[in-house]
Amino acid sequence: MKHLRFGALCLGAMLLAPLTGRAQDNPPPPYKPGVGDLMTMTVQPRHTKLGLAGQLGNWAYAEYEQHELQEAFDRIARVSPKWRNYPIAELLPAMTKGPMGAVAEAIQAGDVGRFNKAYRALTDACNACHSGTNRAMVVIQPPSGTPFPDQDFRPRH
Ligand code: HEC
Repeated sequence: MKHLRFGALCLGAMLLAPLTGRAQDNPPPPYKPGVGDLMTMTVQPRHTKLGLAGQLGNWAYAEYEQHELQEAFDRIARVSPKWRNYPIAELLPAMTKGPMGAVAEAIQAGDVGRFNKAYRALTDACNACHSGTNRAMVVIQPPSGTPFPDQDFRPRH
């Protein structure tokens, strides 16, 4: 009985082999994260880190991180120019260009008060776009406290 069952298993494996072989010839489509995934993976942590850096007056790092945030925006516009009929490729620069410019100026000036104001306006732009794209439930705010225990956001000198 045992031998019979083993034989049946072997036969089954032999019959399935060509099928699995064919599956390997057609690899699955490449992983394409959605806008919500990209926001969570790339935009949100950069927005958080930029905020923490500015609050602490870490201008060298804030400048670097703002550049990364800009790249995250650009990548989303490129990969997902349209999301549910919303023209993300046009909305993204239209809503973030002004506030991002003000944040960059505050970083250049090395002014924490000015940074906090500009960063608040940038955060308002995040929320304005969420409201405008039927995602008003996604509410972004300036960070208080770091979710990154292994990174030091204080300026070096
Ligand atoms: C051009 C419009 C637009 C701008 C600007 C924008 N977002 Fe989004 N965001 C969206 C859309 C649309 C979604 C929902 C995507 C989905 O549901 O798949 C989203 C989703 C998110 C999510 C996922 C929500 C969750 O809890 O899973 C986060 C986080 C997020 N955005 C953060 C930000 C931050 C931070 C900023 C600003 C620095 C920002 N977004 C700016 C359009 C935008």
